[in-house]
Amino acid sequence: MVEDTPQPDADPPVIEGHLPVLTRQVLELLSPKAGMVCLDCTAGLGGHGSEIVPLLAPGGRYIGLDVDPGNVELAKQRLAGAPVRVDVAHANFTQAKAALGTLGVDAVDLLLADLGFASNQMSDAARGLSFNAEGPLDMRLDPGQSLTAAQLVNELDEGALADLIYQHGQERFSRRIARKIVDERHRSPINTTSQLAQIVRRAYGHSKRGKTGGRHRRIDPATRTFMALRIAVNHELTSLEGLLGALPGLLRPGAVAAVISFHSLEDRLVKRAFVGLCRGGSAQKLTPKPLVADTDQRKTNPRSRSAKLRAIRWIG
Ligand SMILES: C[S@@+](CC[C@H](N)C(=O)[O-])C[C@H]1O[C@@H](n2cnc3c(N)ncnc32)[C@H](O)[C@@H]1O
Repeated sequence: MVEDTPQPDADPPVIEGHLPVLTRQVLELLSPKAGMVCLDCTAGLGGHGSEIVPLLAPGGRYIGLDVDPGNVELAKQRLAGAPVRVDVAHANFTQAKAALGTLGVDAVDLLLADLGFASNQMSDAARGLSFNAEGPLDMRLDPGQSLTAAQLVNELDEGALADLIYQHGQERFSRRIARKIVDERHRSPINTTSQLAQIVRRAYGHSKRGKTGGRHRRIDPATRTFMALRIAVNHELTSLEGLLGALPGLLRPGAVAAVISFHSLEDRLVKRAFVGLCRGGSAQKLTPKPLVADTDQRKTNPRSRSAKLRAIRWIG
């Protein structure tokens, strides 16, 4: 942990339903200071950004990226009037180096990636991310990309669908679910969240190890299948690998990079990449174990319960 760390009393209040996760821990690790350049790879609703930006003054700079043009606009609005230069761009963080280049920045002092989706995306039924709301099976965070969840569900062959649900959702009933999806789509295409959720629930059926038993019992049977499709549609794991592989070219010596992940597949990639950089002597681990939410944060922000924060200092 770094000295001279800003210590906010608690996470900032909810803004339009959005509460950034692990804000206190992020600020402690990054320790933003006047004149620093911060790259926020996932600007979202500008929640973390709004805490970081004032600490970069005078003379610092905040650059935010997001694949969702709607969130780019919301982050811009949230950060308007900042005491430092703020640029928020529509870009995938795999393109971070190019995005920095466009803004005339070679490397940064602080890098944050708060992975996955934002609360406004999950609650927007039209995006089809939630099995709790009727909507199209879309799931794209970037509406400009062509691949949708409906395409995967209706076009992948049964084996590939089962593999996707197993590998990205860690769903042990993946084969049964894929079979049921293929049976159902022969009758009519599966185009909505509720159609898919019902099919998955029926595939679980009365399994003793399904909804009524085992470690899965507290979650809706559709949870893992929806997560798998979202990860696949948005290329979440390959994008994360791309970002982690690009870190050496993004960070100045002494820079801190912090990544918040929300499931074990992401966390494993972050852990491995950071271990590799530290073993090679290019970086120093700042979090021997991932930081997690404290009791208050878990209470006020349920999403923080699965958040894991890892950070390194780049030596170069
Ligand atoms: C958890 S939210 C970030 C919230 C933000 N830290 C805040 O406090 O408001 C994740 C955001 O990252 C964006 N995102 C997801 N994958 C991305 C990628 N590969 N490149 C850029 N943005 C991405 C999503 O669109 C979403 O807005």
